Parts: sequence; C-alpha cells; structure tokens
Amino acid sequence: MTEAALCVIAESPSRRETAQIFAHNNKLPLLEARNPDCALQLCYGDERIELFDSKLNTGIYVDFVGGALAHRQQYGGGRGQAIAKAIGLKKGNTPSVLDVTAGLARDAYILANLGCKISLVERSPVLYTLIEDGIRRGLEHESSKPVLENFMNLINADACLFMQHMPRDRLPDVIYIDPMYPERKKSALVKKDMQILQHLLGKDDDAASLLDTALNNATQRVVIKRPIHAEAVSDIKPATSISSKKTRYDIYLCHNKSES
Ligand SMILES: C[S@@+](CC[C@H](N)C(=O)[O-])C[C@H]1O[C@@H](n2cnc3c(N)ncnc32)[C@H](O)[C@@H]1O
Repeated sequence: MTEAALCVIAESPSRRETAQIFAHNNKLPLLEARNPDCALQLCYGDERIELFDSKLNTGIYVDFVGGALAHRQQYGGGRGQAIAKAIGLKKGNTPSVLDVTAGLARDAYILANLGCKISLVERSPVLYTLIEDGIRRGLEHESSKPVLENFMNLINADACLFMQHMPRDRLPDVIYIDPMYPERKKSALVKKDMQILQHLLGKDDDAASLLDTALNNATQRVVIKRPIHAEAVSDIKPATSISSKKTRYDIYLCHNKSES
C-alpha cells in the first residue's frame, strides 16, 4: 500500500486532541488549517472527519444519514438487487457476511439494511477512521442507529491475517471482497470519490491472496465485486457471476463447516 502525501488537519479545537493522536500514531504531520501543498488532508472538523483531495478540490466522508446511502436505504432495490442476489440472500437464507475490504462501508451498509449481520475489516487507518466517524454520527439518528448498532461491527486489521486467525466455530457464511480497481487512464470515467481512494491507496495487489484465504474461511460462498469487463482476480474460476449495469459479482462456492 502506498499512501500519498497525507497531512492531518485539526480544524476544530474540540477535535484537536483526537487529530493529534491520529497524526502521532501514524507519523503524519499535524496542521491547524487546510494547506493546498498537502495532496491529501484528513480534516477533523466540528461536524465530521473528511478526507480532502487538494488536486480534485473535494473531499469524502462516510455518511449513513443523508446522501446516496440514505436514499438507497429508502428506495433501493431490496433483495432483488444484484449485490443481494450475489451473496445468496433469499427467503430462508440471510447469511452473515465478512466484508474484508470495507472502504467507505457502502456495500456493507446496503447488506446490513437487508438484515445481514456484517463484520467489516479495513486495513487503512484513514478509511477505518472515516467509517468510525460515520458510525459515530449515524448512531445519533433514528434512521441509521438500529442498523449500525445491531448489524455492523468494524475491525481495523489486515484481512488476510484476520481471516487466518478467525475461530473455526465462528466462520461467516459469506466473505465479500471489493478490491480497488486499477487507476483508469480516462479519469473522467472514475467517480471522484473513487479517484480520492486511488490517490490514497493505489491499487490493491493482494486480491488473489484475499480470495485464496477467503475460500478456506466462508461456509457458503465468497463474492468478489469487479468492473463489468474486468478479468477475474485469479486463475480459480468462479462458479457463476451476477451482473448489474457496470458491476459484476463473481461467486465462488465453499464447503467449509463451522466447527463447534
Ligand atoms: C474499493 S474499496 C472498497 C469499497 C467498499 N466496498 C464500499 O462499498 O465502500 C477497497 C478497500 O479495501 C481495503 N483493503 C484492501 N485490501 C485489504 C486487506 N488485505 N485488508 C483490509 N482491507 C483491505 C482498502 O484499504 C480499501 O479501503
């Protein structure tokens, strides 16, 4: 993982101490105000923590209350949407899910809203902090609180190591993987929030080993999200795939048993 030049900005005096701890723990410079010389800025404001991209002049944060996620919570396609079908959600089967590439927790929140108990693993301290901050704000709202409280559990770890040490009597039904896509030449084709993630993280080069490890640790299936025309992440052939307009979900069936 290559992290681009990143600074921590203590914009709000009330968040200064938290910002300071993050900067110290991650050996990052701490500034009082935004500075365009710093390519990426993790800004601790009064309301929220935001990752600001100086080049794109915009930022990302996790929002379970307003915006696209809340809209999808209200009007989304329910169990009929491709991601739900891909994880095998149907009457009589509401699988537990381990999302090993949490990112901005969007896919996880969709699945949690459909009733799946989901654990989210994120290795980047920046992304983990953004999700944690989104959960903190989301817990203050009636619409998102029950889902966040009862269905989502956030873990800061490398997912390969995490899966290797999971207790064998508590294997998840489904493991979900959504690796970073390689940066596209035509950046106009990539949404700004994904461009910011690419600037921070580059591309994930361990998707194949995540798949290998996941195959030994799910009881029902492993699902990998890919751009519609992208190659599979490894030589292992998926059992089947489900596609939506721009996305393909490759499905690998598993036969591991949870040992009691
Ligand atoms: C494309 S993003 C996932 C987006 C997410 N599905 C969403 O809906 O917001 C991929 C994320 O996986 C994380 N990641 C990649 N490999 C990982 C690993 N081995 N362990 C934990 N997190 C990992 C990256 O840091 C990045 O945040």
